[in-house]
Amino acid sequence: MKTTHTTLSFSTLLAAVVLFAAQGWCAQPVVSSANAFNRLLKPIKYNQPPAEDGYHDPGAEDIQDLQTPAQAFQNLPKSAAGNRVDWVKALDEKKISPRWDRNDPNAVAMAMNMDIVFEVKGFTPDVLYPHRQHTLILDCTNCHPAIFVPQKGANQMSMAAIMAGQKCGVCHGSVAFPISECRRCHTQKKTVATRKGPAAGSIKP
Ligand code: HEC
Ligand code: HEC
Ligand code: HEC
Repeated sequence: MKTTHTTLSFSTLLAAVVLFAAQGWCAQPVVSSANAFNRLLKPIKYNQPPAEDGYHDPGAEDIQDLQTPAQAFQNLPKSAAGNRVDWVKALDEKKISPRWDRNDPNAVAMAMNMDIVFEVKGFTPDVLYPHRQHTLILDCTNCHPAIFVPQKGANQMSMAAIMAGQKCGVCHGSVAFPISECRRCHTQKKTVATRKGPAAGSIKP
């Protein structure tokens, strides 16, 4: 009896494994084009010279004369992800001074100092969204109202949406540091008192 039972469950298990393997073998992994730069989805080459970067025509005349990202970025503060430049630091240290207005070379960005904290359930540190760093580079209308309704708590936020290229993921993972840099957004250590909802490891649906 016992042997039969063992055999049965073994073959069931085997069938399940075969089915799983077959599915894995047949089905092509579906990776959406959203957040294709996301380091968690696929490793990509970064800072390739113009002839190899996939944007420039490699056959173009004089392409070798173009400055490479490696040359352009060599004196900028480093980061561990994206194109390996800490752009906020580069701005704050005045290593770069992006032109604010196409028509007026003297116009300067008006940084807005307003931090918004998004409380995260469980033990993941809360997210601090800083307006200052964003408004040094972006216009209010880059985010409001299309990406975020300008009202605290009025936006349905989730990591899943961000990884699908929505909310913060419209930029983070494409033109700003990637989603793999959890600690650059989840910066706010919380006290036991502010932890709420289900415990560590649970993900909001
Ligand atoms: C990079 C995106 C981004 C940019 C650029 C941006 N904001 Fe925001 N803003 C946000 C986010 C995110 C929130 C928080 C929304 C929430 O809590 O759901 C917010 C919230 C606000 C709020 C609501 C604050 C409150 O307490 O209810 C105001 C007002 C606001 N922003 C004004 C501005 C102004 C003015 C500018 C330009 C100087 C600007 N924002 C630029 C992303 C941005
Ligand atoms: C419209 C584009 C855009 C959106 C949307 C956006 N960001 Fe950013 N963010 C940037 C850019 C550009 C930078 C500066 C470049 C970099 O650091 O990669 C930046 C930088 C930051 C920084 C770095 C601050 C520092 O001092 O190093 C934090 C933190 C951040 N974003 C959090 C968020 C969060 C949280 C959200 C969503 C609530 C969000 N961002 C939405 C474009 C965006
Ligand atoms: C660009 C900023 C940003 C980065 C990078 C980021 N997060 Fe988030 N994360 C958020 C925001 C915003 C929320 C939504 C907070 C809320 O519910 O209001 C969130 C929510 C979460 C939550 C709560 C549950 C959920 O799914 O919404 C978890 C867990 C989480 N993040 C883990 C991570 C991990 C792990 C990483 C790194 C792999 C990461 N986050 C990277 C901004 C970020």
